[in-house]
Amino acid sequence: MRLVLLASVMLTASGALAQELGDPAAGQWLAQSWCTECHQIAYGRTEISVLKPPSFYTIAARTEVTPLWLNTFFQTPHPVMPNIILTPSQRDDIAAYILDMKRR
Ligand code: HEC
Repeated sequence: MRLVLLASVMLTASGALAQELGDPAAGQWLAQSWCTECHQIAYGRTEISVLKPPSFYTIAARTEVTPLWLNTFFQTPHPVMPNIILTPSQRDDIAAYILDMKRR
């Protein structure tokens, strides 16, 4: 009985972790429709020009940029960025897309 309980707790935990990381493909789609006006969003691409905000690749390369950091950023009103309202799952997806660049 205890073993079964433990197994189900572990399954739930791994499910929650997968959800927390979001879906990078969905994040790319969201970024393409909402962020390309200002940001270079493709892997390996750096800034469009010095006047433009950092590219997602540049952002991903920074050590402090973690899922938590991005999630906090997405929920904080930003002076220059339009107030794009993202749902929690959209935040996770975009964070997963950006953070995926760290691993490649
Ligand atoms: C209207 C232009 C604009 C759009 C659209 C925009 N951004 Fe930004 N973003 C900026 C600017 C400008 C900065 C740089 C702000 C600064 O350094 O103070 C920035 C910075 C950032 C940063 C880094 C913040 C930091 O502290 O370094 C992240 C992450 C980010 N944007 C994500 C996004 C995402 C995700 C989207 C799409 C959902 C998006 N942005 C859409 C203008 C924009």
